[in-house]
Amino acid sequence: GKDGYRHYMEKELHEHPLVIGQTLQRMVDPASRRVMLPEMPFDLASVPRAVITACGSAFYAGMIGRYWLEDIARLPVDIDVASEMRYRNPPLTAGSLGLLISQSGETADTLAALRSLREKAVHILSVLNVEHSTMARESDVVLGTVAGPEISVASTKAFTAQLTVLACLTIATARARGTLDALGEEELVSALLDLPSRAAEVFTQGEAVRRMAQVVAEARDVLYLGRGSMFPVAMEGALKLKEITYIHAEAYAAGEMKHGPISLIDRTVPIVASAPYTPLFDKTLSNLQEAKARGGRLLVFTDTKGAERVSAIAEDMVVLPHVHDFVAPILQTIPVQMLAYEVAVLKGTDVDQPRNLAKSVTVE
Ligand code: F6R
Repeated sequence: GKDGYRHYMEKELHEHPLVIGQTLQRMVDPASRRVMLPEMPFDLASVPRAVITACGSAFYAGMIGRYWLEDIARLPVDIDVASEMRYRNPPLTAGSLGLLISQSGETADTLAALRSLREKAVHILSVLNVEHSTMARESDVVLGTVAGPEISVASTKAFTAQLTVLACLTIATARARGTLDALGEEELVSALLDLPSRAAEVFTQGEAVRRMAQVVAEARDVLYLGRGSMFPVAMEGALKLKEITYIHAEAYAAGEMKHGPISLIDRTVPIVASAPYTPLFDKTLSNLQEAKARGGRLLVFTDTKGAERVSAIAEDMVVLPHVHDFVAPILQTIPVQMLAYEVAVLKGTDVDQPRNLAKSVTVE
């Protein structure tokens, strides 16, 4: 049941801290505080490149995984949505890594992309929530997201669980490739282990999220902005909003705004920015100043350090605890999903069963 929550989506949003913790328990050895992945039939150290593919929210999780694998493990990564990847025929060296991400393990396009990668003698590693799915049977290795069943059509907790797995995979790959020493691993693992309690604190911001929801619910179009690993967080926010509130939303890499969408900005198009205090904060801040100068209304998801700098221009803020840059996209995902949920409640849409959508898309 819904355990007293109004919708499954609300219940599942509140499970973020739990599923992040459960997923970490599966992947981090408590005694040594090191990432321990299951035995793999290939060596992460000798993989020449990774190809990441998935659909929808799982694809955005993959985009964040790409930033991590490139930056921390120094692994070349290609990424595309599965509906494109399955027809792309990219040239790949045998022994490359195919990294598939899916909650259901049954998504037709992701499964077809898996099969087309397998034909190229690529190792198949899948990040799956349903561990007895078709994709699980056809993978060389499955890394489970321990999110439990997800009932709401809009994915929530599976997404942060996917990110948790991808973060652990990044650490293991970086260690194997010699780009992360023991001290570095300790720092990243600590940041991950700290996440469940930080994630629980996000819910103290419910009032601020509901205030923002009042503004967004009145809009016809909403622009989401983010840079680096916050760009996919913005994409996730925009997708959730479209999916369950039927309000048009678009996510843009913050620096790309001045190449077109800045002409849309006025009082009627709220701007939702994901801008915690990471090394890219100042860059995002200057993009937000540009938007403000054109009459944009800024609704900013930030952290305690970012809030000091952005409060002067923000119409409203959701202020999360400041965490390590590495895990900031995981934490910042929670309030953007909450915002979509609260807007849907205000609009009175069918939150758990949005029109035209099914939980698992098993046709092309
Ligand atoms: C968004 C959403 C969809 C799924 C996508 C992939 O809230 O639920 O975009 O993320 O259909 O589904 P899976 O992960 O089952 O392959």
